[in-house]
Amino acid sequence: ISLKPYNTFGIDVKAKLFASVNTENELLEVLNKYEDTPKFILGGGSNMLLVNNVEQLVIHLNTKGISISKETNDSVLVQANAGETWHEFVLWCIEHNFGGVENLSLIPGNVGTSPIQNIGAYGVELKDIFYSCEAITIATGKKKIFTKEECHFGYRESIFKTSKKGKYIITKVTFKLTTKQHTLHTEYGAIQQQLESNRITSPTIKDVSEAVIAIRRSKLPDPDEIGNSGSFFKNPVVDKTTFDIFRKEHPEAPFYKVSDTEFKIPAGWLIEQSGFKGKRFGDAGVHKNQALVLVNYGNATGNEIWELALNIKDTVFKNFKINIEPEVNIV
Ligand code: EPU
Repeated sequence: ISLKPYNTFGIDVKAKLFASVNTENELLEVLNKYEDTPKFILGGGSNMLLVNNVEQLVIHLNTKGISISKETNDSVLVQANAGETWHEFVLWCIEHNFGGVENLSLIPGNVGTSPIQNIGAYGVELKDIFYSCEAITIATGKKKIFTKEECHFGYRESIFKTSKKGKYIITKVTFKLTTKQHTLHTEYGAIQQQLESNRITSPTIKDVSEAVIAIRRSKLPDPDEIGNSGSFFKNPVVDKTTFDIFRKEHPEAPFYKVSDTEFKIPAGWLIEQSGFKGKRFGDAGVHKNQALVLVNYGNATGNEIWELALNIKDTVFKNFKINIEPEVNIV
């Protein structure tokens, strides 16, 4: 079958074997039946660039359900199944007045894949609200719980992208959310401007969510309209020596200080300065409002997008001596 409807980039590659599972039991049955077949797990398909047909068995996780697993005086543990759409989960939380996820509104993808790259936006990362997750060991079908510490979260990183890559299927994620006193993260300039323009002085979690939705809609293309995978590259983190040289040559460049020895430079800026913003090469292109997002205008192949990405990477390195790495998984 074609995987085009299953990846937000809208790349038309084929899968030889495909199974969509609606329950955990169905998942275990499939694992059992295809014990010796290599497997490829697909959630929302929002963080991958498919460049080749997939030879493995594609398992599409479609398990739904959200439940409250524990309530205390001022917090709640909420467990969601992997196949829940991330943004629908966020809206559910806001409806229940559970705080912590509002800055992560409108991120494409599913709950089950959110820990893999520790999704983040506007000053909040998944790890800030993550409590634990449940996974199935692909090789044995055994269940395993991962605590937050065991996930080794970093900037768009976790153990599921490194040493445990391809070994587990995350089936449930538990979040710790606030119920009474919410800690709002509105320090991000764009959020402040959005709230001010709506004359909101004491925002609720719903106001913050709506502000984030408005910002994302204005900057980021909707995958239902133009294929994309959000930020294609990670923002590079450089050491002080590299940063000092860079800053001297480009005093106007935006940056964030990560620590005394590390500095993050927005890849979007490097790409825009390299002249790629809004450029189109056939059906592959760089989004006009956010240079960090590569887009598929319709029929681009995975390889066409990948060639554009390599071209950008090389040009940025030539111009700035800074290496940028993809955030999306290249399959
Ligand atoms: N910039 C440019 N040109 C561009 C894009 C950005 O000069 O085309 C500059 C902006 O002016 C700003 C800086 O780069 O000074 C940062 O831009 P922005 O705030 O838009 O955020 P970002 O660094 O481009 C990151 C995340 C996004 C997340 C936003 C908001 C990564 C790789 N990306 O983007 O995450 O929504 O911050 O927190 O960390 C994603 O991961 O898919 C994603 C969309």
